[in-house]
Amino acid sequence: MTSFRDDVLRGLRQPQKAIPSKYLYDAEGSRLFDQITTLDTYYPTRTERTILETNVAAIADALRPSPVVVEYGSGSSDKTRILLDALHGEISAYVPIDISGEHLHAAADRLRQRYEGMPVLPVVADYTQSFDLPELPPHDHIVVFFPGSTVGNFEPEEAEAFFHGAAAVAGQSPHGGLLIGADQRKPLDVLLPAYDDPDGITARFNLNLLARINRELAGTFRLEDWAHEARWNETESRIEMHLVSQVAQTAEVAGERFAFAEGETIHTEISTKYGPDSLAELAAGAGWIRRDRWTDARGWFAVERYSLG
Ligand code: AVI
Repeated sequence: MTSFRDDVLRGLRQPQKAIPSKYLYDAEGSRLFDQITTLDTYYPTRTERTILETNVAAIADALRPSPVVVEYGSGSSDKTRILLDALHGEISAYVPIDISGEHLHAAADRLRQRYEGMPVLPVVADYTQSFDLPELPPHDHIVVFFPGSTVGNFEPEEAEAFFHGAAAVAGQSPHGGLLIGADQRKPLDVLLPAYDDPDGITARFNLNLLARINRELAGTFRLEDWAHEARWNETESRIEMHLVSQVAQTAEVAGERFAFAEGETIHTEISTKYGPDSLAELAAGAGWIRRDRWTDARGWFAVERYSLG
């Protein structure tokens, strides 16, 4: 397992400096991301929620009978409640997986209170690595739930690995399934403000990475000399977040000094936007067959259901 320190130092030694996006989500970053999901300009969260609410009857039907629902990166299991409201009593077990044990266990307790009798079996794990499922009660099949278009934050080879990993988990039962959210391509006048909002919350979210390095790795970044930028990469069909050095400067991290030219960037996140079939093509490489696709009226976001044969 690599550490924050090693990943930051390695990333800052590259010609295009880059830091893995998972490090955006410390306590402050997670708080800012929650705030982002409520912004008018950030359409994905509310669009996906509306799709789930509008189609919950069909989705629940497709997940019956007695599924084990395994949610990757469950956080507060907010959107899952839409599924659980429709299926509780029929769900064999809900298995939320998250790296933050404290939040995971608190959310699991709340769910146990709300859905009395439903087995909630949290697993503290990094779902991008292999992990063991807990002992499961009798069930018909296992469904991996991965909402939020978090798959879009993976590089293509990481997305490929994710689909293989999800197949290994869901494939532990016959008819394993996957329910996944996928943000879609759309006009840039919608996409860019979603990642560079007028209130500057996304900028704070991005800049918090430098503040975190200062806090945890004896960093000397002067935040006022950096700016947030969201760029569209047409070739890769993705938004890229960068931190742009406003002046020629140096900064130290864990005792190592790095030089930044004026205008040089640190790449901090990608957010891929899919065409109608591009996620299905990627998933097919791991044996997933698309069975259903639900979208909003504008086709901005899709919730897709897959099975393993
Ligand atoms: C978590 N993930 C799906 C978000 C996204 O839209 O790619 C992360 C994010 N970054 C900036 N705004 C939102």
